[in-house]
Amino acid sequence: METRQLGATGVKVPEIGIGVWRYSGGVEPLRRAIELGAALIDTAEVYGTEEVVGQAIEGVRERVFIATKVSGAHLRHDDVLRAAQASLRRLQCSIIDLYQIHWPNSAVPIQETMRAMETLVDRRMVRYVGVSNFSLAELRAAQAALNNYPIVSNQVLYNLNRREIETGLMPYCERNRITIIAYTPLDDGRLAQIPRLRANKALRVLARIAAEAGKTPAQAALNWCLSRPGVIAIPKSNHVARVEENCAASGWRLTPAQIEELDAAFS
Ligand SMILES: NC(=O)c1ccc[n+]([C@@H]2O[C@H](COP(=O)([O-])OP(=O)(O)OC[C@H]3O[C@@H](n4cnc5c(N)ncnc54)[C@H](OP(=O)(O)O)[C@@H]3O)[C@@H](O)[C@H]2O)c1
Repeated sequence: METRQLGATGVKVPEIGIGVWRYSGGVEPLRRAIELGAALIDTAEVYGTEEVVGQAIEGVRERVFIATKVSGAHLRHDDVLRAAQASLRRLQCSIIDLYQIHWPNSAVPIQETMRAMETLVDRRMVRYVGVSNFSLAELRAAQAALNNYPIVSNQVLYNLNRREIETGLMPYCERNRITIIAYTPLDDGRLAQIPRLRANKALRVLARIAAEAGKTPAQAALNWCLSRPGVIAIPKSNHVARVEENCAASGWRLTPAQIEELDAAFS
């Protein structure tokens, strides 16, 4: 599994991690992912999956990078502290590697939320601060609200079918060394399921390029995400075989010509 630097931290994280929203696969797919080096697991207090992550990392905690999120409904100072404590309890660990604000909430001043995030880092309950679903303006405001620690990542929707971030957020993050954690990188399976791949011209191009590369469409779609600087992807699967397939999206690269063709087909 290839790695990427998280923000400007110097810490390496796998370029493919595992998401666990709507996850019901139990511990096995997560343990297999960890064995394969996809040892970044992304959960959230609202997913209801922190407990299974806690079970999966038992005995291997030090090998896994745990990312979780505070709900956008819990962004008042004391709510953030309580939410982090509850996540740590469910995850059965003493520190969260990356604590992300799940979505912005304009009803709470970002300064108040970030003061709580900094307290969590000071107390060694959180290692790094991230955000999710933040626009460029919200990201800038969040950065300005932090005094002592940087924002290392923004977790946002990004896949071949959903490329909105390319016009503003993505170049800003690249310039400012903020990792983009691409969520829904398989477009909820639309870029992976064979019957759908015959549905339109762009999907047929994906299927052909995947075949040319000797990879599956899911692997080609994930690898395309990784062709962008500073991007990592966090596909979700309940199944060991698909986790193995998705992890094998790392360790090779589509050619520049293939990336260009996909860019044009899905423009
Ligand atoms: N921050 C946010 O607001 C936010 C929002 C959405 C998602 N996320 C994060 O991103 C993660 C992934 O996003 P997502 O779950 O929305 O979508 P996704 O990873 O793009 O797609 C997941 C779907 O694709 C299927 N799938 C996975 N691998 C496959 C493969 N190799 N072949 C065929 N089908 C495959 C899965 O089915 P099976 O499980 O049956 O294999 C599931 O139905 C989430 O788990 C979560 O951690 C974050």
